[in-house]
Amino acid sequence: MGQNASTRLQARGYKTIVFVICIVAALGGLLFGLDQGFINNALAPLTEHYGLDVSSQESYSAILAMGGIVGALLSGIFARFLGRKRSLMMAGFIFCAASAYSSLLPALPVLSACRFMLGFGVGIASFVVPLYLSETAPASIRGSMGTLFQLMITIGIFLISVTNVLIAKAFVNTEAALPYMFLTITFFALFMFAGSFILPESPRWLMLKGRREGAVAVLRRTLNSEEEIEKEINEIAVALESDSQSKVFPVMRGYFLKVLLVGVLLQMFQQLVGINMMIYYSATIFGYAGMTGLIAMLTVPTVNMIFTFPAIHWVEKWGRKKLLYVGAAIMFVTMLAAGFAFHSIGDVSDSALIGSGPKMLLLAAVILYIFGFAVSWGPVAWLVCSEIFPLGGREIGMTVTTMVNWTFAGLVMNYALSFMAKFGNASIFYLFAGFCVLAILFVSRFVPETKGVTLEKIESNLKAGVSLRRLGER
Ligand code: BGC
Repeated sequence: MGQNASTRLQARGYKTIVFVICIVAALGGLLFGLDQGFINNALAPLTEHYGLDVSSQESYSAILAMGGIVGALLSGIFARFLGRKRSLMMAGFIFCAASAYSSLLPALPVLSACRFMLGFGVGIASFVVPLYLSETAPASIRGSMGTLFQLMITIGIFLISVTNVLIAKAFVNTEAALPYMFLTITFFALFMFAGSFILPESPRWLMLKGRREGAVAVLRRTLNSEEEIEKEINEIAVALESDSQSKVFPVMRGYFLKVLLVGVLLQMFQQLVGINMMIYYSATIFGYAGMTGLIAMLTVPTVNMIFTFPAIHWVEKWGRKKLLYVGAAIMFVTMLAAGFAFHSIGDVSDSALIGSGPKMLLLAAVILYIFGFAVSWGPVAWLVCSEIFPLGGREIGMTVTTMVNWTFAGLVMNYALSFMAKFGNASIFYLFAGFCVLAILFVSRFVPETKGVTLEKIESNLKAGVSLRRLGER
């Protein structure tokens, strides 16, 4: 987003601070993407420098997911006790410190510990950023801001894929190249860390801590009229009041468990449609089909980023559910097509013998698949998880759902290639196609449409026993 987006926001009556909020907080998404996309083109120089064997390559890659799980687990506690803003500052600091230390190319156990810490930062960011944006953004652009988080993830994955290729080309010597690869992360982390100092705290968190004055002061900065502020404060107060009146901790209540199930399944399916097989291993998979070079290395990150842009607009225009259906349907068809491409390649061991038909089919299927994910499950899963939980249980709800996301991401990263080796290259695509069908059934049965509804309305519907699918009705 540049000058244009800022001007548009202002023209629509949003204050500059709203713009600053979304940019700085979304840098958390960028760092998520930088770390997620780092491995793809950095593993070769790392392998050369550290003399890694396959299993240590895998453990170095996967340790990010472990850090992500632990970070997500603790981030609910951080967000509640330190506040959203300070948690963002902490994540920014961890990103800076762990990437800068990695650039010194320490011994492998220390380097791995740094990657764990990067994952830890990602776990915090992937929890706190959507939470912060959903609580601080005015309802009318909440969806777009939530989607911005996903956009920044995809920009991060793209950016690091490109810079790592360029850095590797610029230096013949891996020892010289690797520090710059890590320092690219440090560079952006510094912006996030410094920027997080100027963010206002979430008004909902301030209210949760009984700091009404502070909440009003923040809303004065983000909203335009006293009426809007009054309305927002009252809605938050009502939501908090009804939580404090209840003797049972909100997370033990039936209505909370219902939405928790929705969030858990949403994040599980976001991973089980197979996205991280593509993000981590697309170059390898294209290689199995005899395709190498820049197309193999950059197609996935590029398409992923480009098509997340329209999603920002579509998520508010068409709503969350329509995108989830359309995305899962596209991913279903394209997974079948990719499976079919590998089927027709069969067991050819010499890649020179692979015809252009299956290659083109695979390339087209992958491009369309990434398109399908980028405009739907990528942004929408995170967004809906930031919207459905009642305030009193929002941290716990988002902690659990974020951990589920990382757990299934880790499983896909760990097993995708060995699954292909064991059951044949086509098999995994059919498996993921099957999960797309289950995802569609799940959406139709359980997922509410939350477009344009205030978080408080969703919460009051939930507490009034409205069925899951209708939670977003006004
Ligand atoms: C997912 C990540 C994935 C990324 C790709 C995110 O929404 O949670 O696991 O790597 O999208 O863009």
